[in-house]
Amino acid sequence: MVAVLTVVGARPQFIKAATVSRRLHSMSGMEEVLVHTGQHYDENMSDVFFEELEIPKPDRYLGIGSGTHGSQTGRMLDAIEQVLLEEKPDWVLVYGDTNSTLAAALAAVKLHIPVAHVEAGLRSFNRRMPEEINRVLTDHASDLLFAPTQGAVENLRSEGLPEDRIHLVGDVMYDAALYYGVKADNESRILDTIDLKPKEYILATVHRAENTDEATRLRIIFEGLRQASKEVPVVLPLHPRTRKALEREEIFTKASRHLQLIEPVGYLDMVMLEKNARLIATDSGGVQKEAFFYQVPCITLREETEWVELVKVGWNRLVSPLKVQDVIESIQAGLAFWAVGQYPAGLYGEGNAAQRIARVLEGVR
Ligand code: UD1
Ligand code: UDP
Repeated sequence: MVAVLTVVGARPQFIKAATVSRRLHSMSGMEEVLVHTGQHYDENMSDVFFEELEIPKPDRYLGIGSGTHGSQTGRMLDAIEQVLLEEKPDWVLVYGDTNSTLAAALAAVKLHIPVAHVEAGLRSFNRRMPEEINRVLTDHASDLLFAPTQGAVENLRSEGLPEDRIHLVGDVMYDAALYYGVKADNESRILDTIDLKPKEYILATVHRAENTDEATRLRIIFEGLRQASKEVPVVLPLHPRTRKALEREEIFTKASRHLQLIEPVGYLDMVMLEKNARLIATDSGGVQKEAFFYQVPCITLREETEWVELVKVGWNRLVSPLKVQDVIESIQAGLAFWAVGQYPAGLYGEGNAAQRIARVLEGVR
């Protein structure tokens, strides 16, 4: 029996882990202990995903909550170490690039427990992003590097990481999009609930630290969206970080007069909103890819992206939120639906990334 201890903590990790957890639970030679750090804890940032994604509730809930990077990561490190000493797993499995990812990788590697990293090799090459530090350090602490794309494999190679650790498996979020996309069609009623018509609205999400902590960028993004809403309604499920930032800058009331600001939604409702949007404007990593999976044009409100292939093939455009006019023009171009050429298949694998990850873990006892 191979004992895998999975550590998750933030919204996108529940979605990524769902596909792999389901696979691990279906294999007779594998067992999984699921640990939730509690980095995200609001009902609509955490519990809703465990209910909708058909994954078992976490075996361990560490209740770490929010804090500065040092304090949050430090408390996680301490708590995860205790769990690892008790559980003694064969593998620690981590996802993405959050503080929960780094804390788990560091706790494990110091105890000589091998680490497997899903979504290895992504780089923005912007070292001011907390996620960039988290992913670089996690990759270099890991024994298995599950890369979602060829570009990610090349990044790992160029940093000198050994070839035998690297596995190109595809993207678990593509697996999720295929599986839950159908479920969303059957179960989500969000369009009726918030009175939106297919292809007649823009879906926006904003939560990146660089866009919420810096008042100028935050103001420019929301002014750009406000102007766009004169033409097409804009719906924006509001991350709690962004709500706090809008309140801090005293622009929440104005924004809510023009934009449809709603609470964070569950994954099935989010997928439904994505599929039916005319355009997506976002600074989220996951949402950029989901836009592509559902063939919706996407504007990314950042200077760079880790998902470079989407920009290369023309399904995603970057816009630096430093001038309102740039944001408006980019939204207008998106609404006119730029000529994207054909839709390239296979950029993110074949939808069997979870299966391939589970097989590799099973093989290296
Ligand atoms: C984190 C990740 C980011 C990821 C995002 C997904 C890090 C460094 N960042 O950013 O990579 O894209 O999750 O959503 O790990 N808050 C609540 N309720 C919650 C969770 C957060 O109110 O359930 C508020 C708190 O004020 C908190 C703030 O949001 O301080 C930020 O939360 P945090 O988890 O530190 O970072 P995210 O911005 O969510
Ligand atoms: N998401 C969701 N509800 C929301 C906003 C996002 O279910 O209100 C999903 C989204 O579909 C994607 C994931 O959360 O699968 C992305 O998470 P987020 O944008 O918070 O983080 P990132 O991907 O940027 O790390």
